[in-house]
Amino acid sequence: MDLIAQLDEFEAQALAAIAAAADLAALEAVRIQFLGAKQGKLRDLQGLLGQATKDLKPLWGKRFNEVKNRVSAALDARQRELARPAVAVGGLDVTMPGVVPRLGRRHPLTQTILEFKDIMGRFGFTVADGPEIEDDYHNFEALNIPADHPARDPLDNFYLASAVVGAGLKNSGGGSEARLLRSQTSTVQIRVMEKTKPPVRIISVGRVYRPDTIDATHSCMFHQMEGLMIGPSVTMAHLKTVLRLFAHAYLGHDVHIRFRPSFFPFTEPSVEVDMSWNEPGKPWLEIGGAGMVDPNVLKAVGYDPDQVSGFAFGLGVERFCMRRHGIPDIRLFTSNDVRFLSQF
Ligand code: DAH
Repeated sequence: MDLIAQLDEFEAQALAAIAAAADLAALEAVRIQFLGAKQGKLRDLQGLLGQATKDLKPLWGKRFNEVKNRVSAALDARQRELARPAVAVGGLDVTMPGVVPRLGRRHPLTQTILEFKDIMGRFGFTVADGPEIEDDYHNFEALNIPADHPARDPLDNFYLASAVVGAGLKNSGGGSEARLLRSQTSTVQIRVMEKTKPPVRIISVGRVYRPDTIDATHSCMFHQMEGLMIGPSVTMAHLKTVLRLFAHAYLGHDVHIRFRPSFFPFTEPSVEVDMSWNEPGKPWLEIGGAGMVDPNVLKAVGYDPDQVSGFAFGLGVERFCMRRHGIPDIRLFTSNDVRFLSQF
């Protein structure tokens, strides 16, 4: 019989025996039988190679190596198969790798807000909440913003059409019946003081809405953190200390805080708050407004300005988050781009 035919037969027998081996010991016996260095069948066939004529030799040699490699590979594969732990009944292979669920993560702004609440919580401030759809009274009137004040301008606010908020309301763009998407979180100050006796120490973090032209630093929806502290002898020094401590806690100790005299209808005196770093050429960055709560506001909620005083502030959440992470464009927060979001 020529060697090629014998190699064919060898291959068929070896592969059948490998497939039939029921455990590792049986497989080892098969290996010795076919590939064993001393008495293996392949060794006998190798002896025949030497008898090949010159022109047959390359052909036989090639086929010999092919068969040897194929049988070795089949042995290895079967060995891996048999070495695996037992497979459960019912055709379910419990050794298969599972499907790893991809973990989501919190939005960077959510992370920022949680950290704000945590920091302010350590200063003794509890968290209050208020609605995003507000009435004229809480967004303006109780905050000492009179009817003819430019802050009420329909061009600067998102007033709601009456159909959205129920019958009986006109899309007046103002007036005491008006409803709007709140333009500031200062609304929550009023809502808290209306139902709480002093002392008060709260923050409120949430969305505010303004029809601003959208660019890298402006959005028609953004977040503010409102703070309010009312007590028998709360002063501007408390305000400055709290804001400074807060900025240091969130952004580190090399941040500087500056207070500029300003005006808000609901505080007297009022300041605007800026921050900066020891970076040559970098301008101060405005981060919010603050002041001592105006006596008119205290009266509007039934507090006695002779008995209590307090400070309030409103900070832009995005500004802090952008500064901390070096985010260049506020629109990234709402673009839903996973490449951006997955970095936080
Ligand atoms: N509500 C102001 C704004 O949106 C920020 C602000 C200023 C809030 C002074 C305050 C405050 O509580 O006392 O621009």
